[in-house]
Amino acid sequence: MLHPTTPSSQRTYSSLPPTRTLPPTLTSLTPQWKQSFRRRLLTWYAKHARDLPWRKSSNPYRVWVSEVMLQQTQVETVKAYFQRFMKAFPTVKKLAVADEQEVLRLWEGLGYYRRARGLHAAAQQIVDEHGGRFPRDVATLQTLPGIGRYTAGAIVSIAFDERAPILEANTIRLFARLIGYREAPTKSAGQKVLWQTAEEVLPRKKIANFNQALMELGSLVCKPSNPLCEECPVASLCVANETGAQESIPLSTKKVNFTDVNEAAVVVYKKGKVLLRQCGENERWAGLWDFPRFALDSEGPLFVHDELVAKVQEQTGVTIKPGGLLKTIKHGVTRYRITLDCYEANYTSGKLKRTVGKTLRWCAMKELRDLPLSSTGRKIAKFIAS
Ligand code: ADE
Repeated sequence: MLHPTTPSSQRTYSSLPPTRTLPPTLTSLTPQWKQSFRRRLLTWYAKHARDLPWRKSSNPYRVWVSEVMLQQTQVETVKAYFQRFMKAFPTVKKLAVADEQEVLRLWEGLGYYRRARGLHAAAQQIVDEHGGRFPRDVATLQTLPGIGRYTAGAIVSIAFDERAPILEANTIRLFARLIGYREAPTKSAGQKVLWQTAEEVLPRKKIANFNQALMELGSLVCKPSNPLCEECPVASLCVANETGAQESIPLSTKKVNFTDVNEAAVVVYKKGKVLLRQCGENERWAGLWDFPRFALDSEGPLFVHDELVAKVQEQTGVTIKPGGLLKTIKHGVTRYRITLDCYEANYTSGKLKRTVGKTLRWCAMKELRDLPLSSTGRKIAKFIAS
């Protein structure tokens, strides 16, 4: 095996006792290791690169949108969203002048809606402050909303072929296994080691191809569980493969304590229209629309109607006469396991509460299709339309 780091016999650590050996990750990758790694990776990528819609051109706008979509979302899901988005907003200028509601509607279902709002705000900034052209350096790109070190590195390397490292979920796993990094990769020490690795492995040229090859290998071969080491072109260079530590690297930092919560959503009807509320800035679905929705305290059906009346009144200003339970939706958001009981109700009296902006509205059923709705809001909308 070609070890990624300087052999211990050649290392000098004047400040450490001679008996102590450092983990290999704190030294530099050797030139032979890097050369072999690059050659094997690129040969593999030439054969296995997927034909993905955002790889058809190196236009920075397309690279940027795809990379933002790919944060926290699977490639297969992103494909259709990317194509719809590009059709609606083919250039950064078109995105900048778009209505935010339209942007959110096209993002609906992808989750993490802050990404869409960041994209929209950054497009406006690119037009206003950079004449509609993408900055070509990582530091300037990072001044834009929603663009961190990874996204900036991806734009600069993939679109402009500049020498910038990238580190995202796939490459964190790949590098941690390659160098046998056993600590938490998301802590600052882990980030430092892994960004350093991402920088060190970079060749001098053809960075666009190289960085995409890294992500492709992480995604297709160096999978989170059951990695396909027997198909991996760099298995012989990998510390985790050598030591059989693939499943324990990267160290999982997730220790989730789930909390069960009960919530209610109410479809309030008035003359064929339904009552909707736009989620506020600090809410999970900021900017999207939802049915009146709140935490439910009542246990059992006995007092639930009184609670629905009181909470709809408090949230919207109107009084209702609750009807039956339409359906129960179970879904998870971060550490919450939510049981959402969806009720129907009729409007009886009262005026919509005045709020800042127009965040409450009576909506015709056919308008529901064009409004951006929360994920459960969409499920309820489909249910009542069927
Ligand atoms: N995950 C994040 N960015 C990616 C890309 N450009 N290709 C494949 N998977 C990715």
